[in-house]
Amino acid sequence: MNQPVKESDMTVTWHRDESHLPPALRGLRIPLIGAPLFIISVPDLVIAQCKAGIIGSFPALNAREGEGEPPLLEAWLKRITEELDRHNQENPDRPAAPFAVNQIVHRSNARLQRDIDICVKWKVPVWITSLGARPEVNEAAHSVGGVVLHDIINNTFARKAIEKGADGLIAVAAGAGGHAGQQSPFALVREIRSWFDGPLALSGAIASGEALLAARAVGADFGYMGSPFIATREANAVEDYKRMIVESGAEDIVYSSLFTGVHGNYLKKSIERAGLDPDNLPESDPSSMNFSSGSSKPKAWKEIWGSGQGIGDVRDVVPATELIDRIDREYRAAGARLAAEFRGA
Ligand SMILES: Cc1cc2nc3c(=O)[nH]c(=O)nc-3n(C[C@H](O)[C@H](O)[C@H](O)COP(=O)(O)O)c2cc1C
Repeated sequence: MNQPVKESDMTVTWHRDESHLPPALRGLRIPLIGAPLFIISVPDLVIAQCKAGIIGSFPALNAREGEGEPPLLEAWLKRITEELDRHNQENPDRPAAPFAVNQIVHRSNARLQRDIDICVKWKVPVWITSLGARPEVNEAAHSVGGVVLHDIINNTFARKAIEKGADGLIAVAAGAGGHAGQQSPFALVREIRSWFDGPLALSGAIASGEALLAARAVGADFGYMGSPFIATREANAVEDYKRMIVESGAEDIVYSSLFTGVHGNYLKKSIERAGLDPDNLPESDPSSMNFSSGSSKPKAWKEIWGSGQGIGDVRDVVPATELIDRIDREYRAAGARLAAEFRGA
């Protein structure tokens, strides 16, 4: 007779068929990508994520040098590459996961070509593209063996991204932080999986190992987790923002187009603090999007803070490695619990 698997049994191992994934995306400690977060994702956070065994990432636009200074992006890539190399030499039994750089492929991003050239020079292993699928970005990534994941909010954009040469997709579903979609993750992933069997990550309110397992169950290869990393020591966010993430839940998230011209999810309390009524925000339109200063959010709304709906699971500000340990424990326990239900079936 099968023995019941105890939830407390953290020695549970899992085996998955990764043969459909490019080598750079195989062998992670858990199938999780730390999502790129504007301003917040900095080398300290990326390095901690990768050393803990998940893909860490940052938007290229976060590396902003002063007038006349050499490109900060280059310094960041050098540091990340060297620190991860050192970690791998010292820890051959638990090598770091690869890192990813996010490119905002929007016509107002005047730095795009320069940033692509720097990423080619440093042979960035994983490229995440947002707000536009362009073949030349994919070609640049492929020229140095990079893998491109493009983020989309519906099946039409997903098809376009693959047609234009992306290797994989990030399905940004309802409840995600930043520019979230409006579709249920169940609907979005299943529609994409009806024609696409390549790498697929699911984004939106994944903040626990249970939710990560659900993403895998519905057909995604990876969870893509952003907001919980805001409440980590390494995140480049003010303490107030971190605390607000810890103290808020799904009901405290407002979906609005006002701040950037594209719908996104924001912390209600930060909107109230700015003197606005979160229940009566006017609409804005995509023509107001402009990344020339790095963010598409006007300075007046700098203190309006983004977050996804999953933050009810975030109970404290912790080092990133502790957060990843928690997700790992929960993922294995949830997997074991469900597997036990199917024994002998
Ligand atoms: C504060 C904040 C900033 C973000 N900045 C970016 C960004 O610069 N580029 C990008 O592709 N996605 C960005 N995102 C979206 C995330 O990469 C990811 O899709 C999202 O956080 C996942 O949902 P979750 O927050 O519920 O985990 C941002 C999200 C948040 C919360």
